[in-house]
Amino acid sequence: MSERKLEGRVAIITGAGGGLGAEAARVLSMHGASVVVVDIDGAAAQRVAAEIEAGGGQSLAVQTDVSSEAAVKAMVEAVVARFGRVDVLHNNAAILSVEQRRRDRDVINMDVEAWDRAMAVNLRGAMLCTKYAVREMLRNGKGSVIFATSGLGAQGDLSLSAYAASKAALIMLSRSVAAQYGKQGIRSNALQIGLAPAENAHESMPAPLIDILRDNHLTPDVGTPRQIADVVAFLASDESSFVTGTTLVADGGFGSHTPSLVAMKALFAQSGANGM
Ligand SMILES: NC(=O)c1ccc[n+]([C@@H]2O[C@H](COP(=O)([O-])OP(=O)(O)OC[C@H]3O[C@@H](n4cnc5c(N)ncnc54)[C@H](O)[C@@H]3O)[C@@H](O)[C@H]2O)c1
Repeated sequence: MSERKLEGRVAIITGAGGGLGAEAARVLSMHGASVVVVDIDGAAAQRVAAEIEAGGGQSLAVQTDVSSEAAVKAMVEAVVARFGRVDVLHNNAAILSVEQRRRDRDVINMDVEAWDRAMAVNLRGAMLCTKYAVREMLRNGKGSVIFATSGLGAQGDLSLSAYAASKAALIMLSRSVAAQYGKQGIRSNALQIGLAPAENAHESMPAPLIDILRDNHLTPDVGTPRQIADVVAFLASDESSFVTGTTLVADGGFGSHTPSLVAMKALFAQSGANGM
């Protein structure tokens, strides 16, 4: 992995006040990018930007609700005023609050307001940021757009139906962007993220749940924010210059094995056979 592969680039990361977005901001800064930390939580965005600046990087915090067109337009104007250009947009923001998760359920029990909120933040927000950021990228004839998606956008599950549908739609939005502006130097990719909880998120997830999920990974453990941020840096940089219009999966193999694998392993262990 080459160091400082984003020297001189300007990267906007939405939802970067915490979690995976904050880690992506730190790693892109480490690679030399000037990082715009966008979040609806302005204080959280300020903290991450201040940490980056204290470490010698360049950063700007912009409090923005990505679901508001006026706010997104103003955010991109502020970025251009400060840094003069936009090279990378990581559409990472999503509404994942406890309240939202409680209301975004199976379809017959769906809270319609939660559905609309998920679509407004996760999907319309990504479209709006892309709309204004790509206009700036086109001026330089170069840019990389990344859409954070999820295994839940590709596989059916018991709850979070709105979140899942919004993530699936982002895959198509990414392909549209790749098809529409590819000849003008803009690349666009979806990053399908597996389980990569921030340290504090581990505490809010019951251990038996983590154990089931870990068993279904092909890697020794579930993911870390740093492992996801490293893939974001790859997609943002010229190392991925021939990668566009696709979905890159970073999920420790969670979505790539036969659904019966874990049960079979348990059966073989019980019977003393190794099953390999
Ligand atoms: N962490 C994982 O294991 C995982 C797995 C699959 C996909 N993802 C995806 O990765 C991304 C980051 O996830 P995370 O776990 O870090 O979540 P998180 O909840 O920790 O971070 C999301 C951030 O988005 C911000 N946000 C919410 N609404 C916003 C709005 N309207 N405008 C601007 N910012 C807003 C929040 O304030 C928060 O800082 C999401 O797109 C999520 O779907 C994460």
